[in-house]
Amino acid sequence: MTSPLPSRFPYAPGSDGTPRLVYGADYNPEQWPREVWEEDVRLMREAGVNTVSVGIFSWARLQPARNTWDFGWLDELMELLHAGGIGVDLATATASPPPWLTTAHPEILPVTASGETVWPGARQHWRPTSPVFRTHALRLVRELATRYADHPALVAWHINNELGCHNAYDYSDDAARAFRTWLRHRYTTLDALNHAWGTAFWSQRYSDWEQILPPRLAASHPNPTQQLDFKRFSSDALKEHLRAERDVLREITPDIPVTSNFMVMGGTKGMNYADWAAEVDFVSNDHYTQPGPQDRDELSFSANLTSAIAGHRPWFLMEHSTSAVNWQPVNLAKKPGELARDSLLHLAHGADAICFFQWRQSAAGAEKYHSAMVPHAGPDSEVFRAVTDLGRTLEALASVAGAAREPARVGILFDWDSWWASEQDSHPTARLDYRQEALDWYSALLALGVRADVITPATDPGAYDLLIAPVLHVVPEALAKELTRYAETGGHLVTTYFSGVVDENDHVWLGGYPGALRELLGIRIEEFGPLLDGDTVELDNSTTGGLWTDRITVDGPEVEVLARYRSGTYANRPAVTRRPTGRGSATYVSTRLGTDGLAALLPELLGRAGVESELPESARGRVETVVRRDTESRYLFLVNRTEEPVPLPGLTGDLLAGGAEQGAGAELVLPPRGVAVLRSPVTS
Ligand code: GLA
Ligand code: GLA
Repeated sequence: MTSPLPSRFPYAPGSDGTPRLVYGADYNPEQWPREVWEEDVRLMREAGVNTVSVGIFSWARLQPARNTWDFGWLDELMELLHAGGIGVDLATATASPPPWLTTAHPEILPVTASGETVWPGARQHWRPTSPVFRTHALRLVRELATRYADHPALVAWHINNELGCHNAYDYSDDAARAFRTWLRHRYTTLDALNHAWGTAFWSQRYSDWEQILPPRLAASHPNPTQQLDFKRFSSDALKEHLRAERDVLREITPDIPVTSNFMVMGGTKGMNYADWAAEVDFVSNDHYTQPGPQDRDELSFSANLTSAIAGHRPWFLMEHSTSAVNWQPVNLAKKPGELARDSLLHLAHGADAICFFQWRQSAAGAEKYHSAMVPHAGPDSEVFRAVTDLGRTLEALASVAGAAREPARVGILFDWDSWWASEQDSHPTARLDYRQEALDWYSALLALGVRADVITPATDPGAYDLLIAPVLHVVPEALAKELTRYAETGGHLVTTYFSGVVDENDHVWLGGYPGALRELLGIRIEEFGPLLDGDTVELDNSTTGGLWTDRITVDGPEVEVLARYRSGTYANRPAVTRRPTGRGSATYVSTRLGTDGLAALLPELLGRAGVESELPESARGRVETVVRRDTESRYLFLVNRTEEPVPLPGLTGDLLAGGAEQGAGAELVLPPRGVAVLRSPVTS
């Protein structure tokens, strides 16, 4: 197990002695008259809040004109919070450039692929590669860091806010220049770039670096490798901004940890957070659920993936919502119990900080209908009562702080390169959804009551008995070798349709699909068989496939056919295959089975890998389990996935928190949407 705490987590045991969980919110007092601030601090204390993020959107207030600074209000606020025992995660305030700056320097504004300017009026209207923006942003960071370097309320720095939230892709001339520099670094020579981009196609050969552009609006599909490299570059450009702010902060306040809130959640794709994590002192994430049949599973998946990004060390939930958001087509309020359940599910997956957007619900502005800890109705409200209850629960769970997540035996590999490449245009189908396929496997495992870790390519796969790599589309030679070694040395690999097809340049591995994984899987595919919307195929294991099929020929030794197509163009041909190799195996699933189909297929794959559910049979599928542990205690988190009470016969331990009840015969009963945390001593 990795060492539990990042060395520079706020309130790491040692800094003030006792482990504690962080509880708080974004706090935007500049939206309120001064007298409200006193009430805020009083209510924060009542709710158990110990940390707030301040100044995220304060640039225009802190620097009202190029050479005018106004820190007085922030000085006063920092004092007030400190006097109230509340720590500050101080933002660098660079997320929303002020009107004086965009008026003086409209060349910092982003440009869309079709050449339109993204105007001020909302936020994040800046080019990640603008040298002018960078200069102004770093000047602000330096002023803030210098002024508050020794302030006792300061517990962490919060760089910008959700980098890439609205400006992940910029096609401006600044971006074009920076893209060329990035490409020179990657390829060194134009010949290498021409080869990688396959520019023999459609007369795209470059004879000078200056000819290269971002993939702007074009007459047909822009070059796919250019598109893929632009995604990689755009993630790197934002990362560069993060590093630039961080370097100023580290220079002035080397002892204050630095973070920036990531967005590991459905709908966010542009930032390769697995690659960003090493740049911050501790990983933070923002997460919002989107209503749907898998909403709670998606929360768990995202929290789980955040844990992997954080190297399986504790991380910081910087934002989620107490109730409704304001940016979905229809914004649902949370049901009773959901506020606590969602928070504790993040905690289970390693969050040692539980924070919300935001502290007090705005009366004006675009987010006035977004929930907060103190809603429009005021503290005499269900939401505020749930908020104070959660504060007490987190106090009861304080000993969990610093505990690592106990690794599961099943890993699901999540890879940004495969995500970006597999969903590009001009492919066999435009319907492929990489994250959804991974989530379906995760949901299926939850339905079987089997714990799984969502992992990144940086995680050692050797730790897992069963490694599921859905749509592992981009497979460079080294990865093919690593997976082969994994299977030969006893690992059980499972992969799916459209895997192994291309290398890191998005060039097809020739000789038949699944290309780089063909030998390992012992199969050969000459043509893909994507399905039209609504079309499905039956398999002889009573499951149904959609989206995709493959015409598979088995050509490896000892390959077993685990299921065949019963209907469709490929009726009677293999649909799911498994090749034993060395001490392990390699399985291929050629169609999209969805959560139910995967839940029907998985028991066989789990059984062969020797993996079993840790839950009593009656609770499987109804309860999610997550485990954290330190040297003394093992914390078993039990999360009710249903709207009904769930009895948990035979589970024992010291019940720490979570609203569970002891039923008849002292048996633990999870209430609807309830969570229990059972502590037991670590024996070995
Ligand atoms: C993001 C932002 C916050 C706020 C919330 C609303 O997470 O960081 O400033 O806009 O969304 O859900
Ligand atoms: C047209 C074009 C070809 C090719 C095909 C693909 O016919 O002339 O170059 O792009 O479409 O279907």
